[in-house]
Amino acid sequence: MGNVTVIGAQWGDEGKGKIVDWLASRADMVVRFQGGHNAGHTLVVGDKVYKLSLLPSGIVTGTPSVIGNGVVLDPWALKAEVEKLRGQGVRIEPDVLMIAETCPLILPIHRDLDAMREDASGAGKIGTTRRGIGPAYEDKVGRRAIRVCDLAHLGELDPQLDRLCAHHDALRAGFNEPPVDRERLKRDLAEIADFVLSFARPVWRDLDEAKQRGRRILFEGAQGVLLDVDHGTYPFVTSSNTVAGTTGSGTGMGPSAAGFVLGIVKAYTTRVGSGPFPTELDDETGQRLGERGHEFGTVTGRKRRCGWFDAVLVRQSAAVSGVTGIALTKIDVLDGFATVKICTGYRIGDQTLDYFPAHAADQARAVPVYEEMEGWSGTTAGARSWADLPAQAIKYVRRIEELIRCPVALVSTSPERDDTILVRDPFAS
Ligand code: IMP
Repeated sequence: MGNVTVIGAQWGDEGKGKIVDWLASRADMVVRFQGGHNAGHTLVVGDKVYKLSLLPSGIVTGTPSVIGNGVVLDPWALKAEVEKLRGQGVRIEPDVLMIAETCPLILPIHRDLDAMREDASGAGKIGTTRRGIGPAYEDKVGRRAIRVCDLAHLGELDPQLDRLCAHHDALRAGFNEPPVDRERLKRDLAEIADFVLSFARPVWRDLDEAKQRGRRILFEGAQGVLLDVDHGTYPFVTSSNTVAGTTGSGTGMGPSAAGFVLGIVKAYTTRVGSGPFPTELDDETGQRLGERGHEFGTVTGRKRRCGWFDAVLVRQSAAVSGVTGIALTKIDVLDGFATVKICTGYRIGDQTLDYFPAHAADQARAVPVYEEMEGWSGTTAGARSWADLPAQAIKYVRRIEELIRCPVALVSTSPERDDTILVRDPFAS
């Protein structure tokens, strides 16, 4: 029994929540390795609905849950989420929640900067979640970040604050904003420190211990491969590496930890925020996909852009992230379409490409080449075996496998946990 890494293989919102929840119930530990509270998913356990942004999904069922060093942590968002879940009866104590003491903090100045930049960018805005994710990662690589472990040394914080504030004051001046209120920042940090520190640990040791004991670890990715800062549709991406390879660097477990890489893939395509989207549909069909798929962001409530399945992009995601198998989700949203289309390449001028070009100008000119398939009139909703699926729906799934060069391990046919066709158990692989 090895580890499993779950990642989104499109632009996020592929339906990771349900799959992660199902796998988390069978894991010994659930670990987040990148991103922050820009992620969002909803867990339905019995008749209760839990909304998580920062905490790993295992938390709800009491599975030891780890926030790795690759995550950027907003201490106030953490407290709010913990208190909300405690209010719903979830036990969150240091034996179930462990936070890497090397996590960089997202501070109010990061949130400010994210919003100032977005507001000033007009049509060129990224469409971020305004949670301060990008600015916090910038300070991490700029070696100016305040980290979780610094909260235990507040008396020694001044030299670090000098560097951090000098940087931010210059940026803020460019937006005609006053300098950082340093005393207030120190007071706020002093107030929240004990809460965060109660969960802080050298988690690399816990993970090493888990490895030595042969524990099953589920790595829970956030966002999607097409939002990866290296491999995604740059600059319209998030500021972390969302690919499966980050499990090692984002936790301290080394490159072999990822195990079975399960790419979550929606049976069509959606995207929130700005950026290229070759198969986007600005018509009734796009509207229908959005309505049937309830395509509104969990974190920001924004309407998601919708379009046909793009096999070129998913093939690329699967390749750069080393996907072992995919979980195909929300196929029931396509029920009742007379025909369905799959993008199999792009035409740019007189050239045809079988990959997504790197440059924004080429991306903007890429016209999708479609393969059209007959749809299905029966329903896939609630199917739990291949035999429950209409023949055309099976053909659609098989064609996707062929085009993306990756086998299907699971097909999800409704938000219900058991409405899943299990082809290959990732934990048993
Ligand atoms: P940021 O991560 O807030 O900096 O946002 C950068 C881009 O990533 C924007 O296009 C966001 O809409 C997108 N994004 C960030 N987190 C998620 C997510 O969890 N699901 C889908 N899109 C996301």
